[in-house]
Amino acid sequence: MEGQIREIEQKSIKEINEAKNLKELNDLRVKYLGKKGELTTILRGMGGLTPEERPKIGSLVNVVKANLEKIIQERETKYQEEELNKKLEEETIDITLPSTKTKRGSKHPINRVIEEIEDLFVSMGYDVEVGPELETDEFCFERLNLPKGHPARDMQDSFYITNEYLLRTQTSAVQARTMLANEEKTPIRMICAGKTYRREDDATHSHQFGQVEGLVIDKKENNVSLADLKGTLEIFVRKLIGENLSLRFRPSYFPFTEPSYEVDVTCFKCGGKGCPLCKQTGWIEILGAGIVHPNVLKMNGYDPEKFGGFAFGTGLDRLAMFKYGITDMRYLYTNDVRFLKQFDRKD
Ligand code: PHE
Repeated sequence: MEGQIREIEQKSIKEINEAKNLKELNDLRVKYLGKKGELTTILRGMGGLTPEERPKIGSLVNVVKANLEKIIQERETKYQEEELNKKLEEETIDITLPSTKTKRGSKHPINRVIEEIEDLFVSMGYDVEVGPELETDEFCFERLNLPKGHPARDMQDSFYITNEYLLRTQTSAVQARTMLANEEKTPIRMICAGKTYRREDDATHSHQFGQVEGLVIDKKENNVSLADLKGTLEIFVRKLIGENLSLRFRPSYFPFTEPSYEVDVTCFKCGGKGCPLCKQTGWIEILGAGIVHPNVLKMNGYDPEKFGGFAFGTGLDRLAMFKYGITDMRYLYTNDVRFLKQFDRKD
């Protein structure tokens, strides 16, 4: 029996030395030392031995087992190290290689215009307000002197979500919100830029567009007048688009202002001489404006005997087009990187 054990020992050592990887080593461990392994089987057969032989064989098997385990472990450690070294070598990072470039986006021209307008008006003492795009009928129309059924509602085709909620058709809704939220009913100077929505979609109209709203309310004795409105809009247009532009006020109608005006600016393309863009008139319409209607003041908690002011609203898309000389409004919405990249400057 001793001979048999020694034979197994020789054979297994040879096989262990020949094992090529961790898996093979583990298979050998099972084969020789496992529960059903060859040495274990020998221990099981010790019943047929004499009492003197039993401890001798038992301890021999244990010595051989321990020895094999030691050899297997040594080989395992060797393979583990080799594997680790190989991995480390393969996964070295060459920090001298050029990096994969992440493309930096740029500010959209509309957002540039918004920021510039906000900065300009903040410098004149205005607050920047925001309002929800999902607006109520109450703020979008009713509180602006446009009760349900008012014919002027037809001027703005709307996206109604429910009877009460719609996507705001104009930032004028923020006029009402600002007045109502000002509990102390102190004077107001606010500007608000944001998205607006109307049910129209053709070459020159998009169902989503941008507007800027301005509202000034002051005590009656301060006499906020049309002259102030005109002066403010002149500063606005000249600073944003071009110093030598002129404004022209044409009487118009809005339910929330009285008197109301549509404001034209010198055609940026021909400088007022007349061209196809301005239909030979030399002017391009850019703004709606007027003196805040007494009903609007009253409905939003301001006494029209004590307060008065002006309001104006304009389309952001048009302003961006004038400012940057963009000839087709659709460029602003199609997100063509070749177009957008032109605005990627540091400023
Ligand atoms: N909200 C108006 C529009 O969208 C513009 C406007 C704003 C007119 C403020 C007068 C005063 O057409």
